[in-house]
Amino acid sequence: MSELRNIVVLTGAGISAESGLATFRGPGGLWEGHRVEDVCTPEALARDPALVHRFYDLRREALERVEPNAAHEALARLDAEWPGELLIVTQNVDDLHERAGAKRLLHMHGELNSALCAACGERQAWRGSLPPGTDCDACGRSALRPDIVFFGEMPYEMEAIDRALARADLFVSIGTSGAVYPAAGFVRTARYHGADTLELNLEPSEGSVYFAESRMGPAGVLVPTWVDEVLAD
Ligand code: OAD
Ligand code: ZN
Repeated sequence: MSELRNIVVLTGAGISAESGLATFRGPGGLWEGHRVEDVCTPEALARDPALVHRFYDLRREALERVEPNAAHEALARLDAEWPGELLIVTQNVDDLHERAGAKRLLHMHGELNSALCAACGERQAWRGSLPPGTDCDACGRSALRPDIVFFGEMPYEMEAIDRALARADLFVSIGTSGAVYPAAGFVRTARYHGADTLELNLEPSEGSVYFAESRMGPAGVLVPTWVDEVLAD
């Protein structure tokens, strides 16, 4: 293996599970009592904006009752101490990575604490409830919606992510089921460019076979151990 310098970390809902936030594809297949298609598509937003806005209002409120866990803290320590390139790409819309102190972080699926204008495309920081018909600060139209990348919409920052994957010596996937693209394809992109690959997850993900190494267990245990190993080398 070549010398380790550039690291890309992908995180999913599993890294926030031990903080008390529900994952998406848990037992029963419902997410907080809703089918994902009923709250996470442009069609759902058009059909029932009150339901979709309320759903994300509750998720945003829930952030106030949770704290980063040992896995978020460990990645923040890696970010602070790793001298090479690092990019933490999260699929999560919670703010636990940044509250733990991570800086080299991209939210590819949007953020609960942000509102997106459906009319002009501007994004603005948001706290508290976001009712349908709220005015946009930038264009004044009553078109703010939750800043969540719905199914069928383009994730954020794909160019920066692709650049980092092409330069990565190591790609690490943490707490994600590997069911949602394009994130599920990152392991193959990284391998194609010659990166070593490691999966840290409670159970084998859908793309488990693509990883050179898989470690199974809770993120709160596996991630601090892995970060200690990397920083010790
Ligand atoms: P999923 O709910 O699909 O997968 C969570 C993964 O975390 C599963 O493989 C679990 O086994 C694992 N897991 C659960 N608890 C864990 C723990 N304590 N430690 C380690 N792993 C654990 O969540 P994602 O893969 O993140 O999109 O889902 C991807 C996207 O689907 C989400 O970003 C979301 C959803 O539609 C948007 O919100 C736009
Ligand atoms: Zn606007």
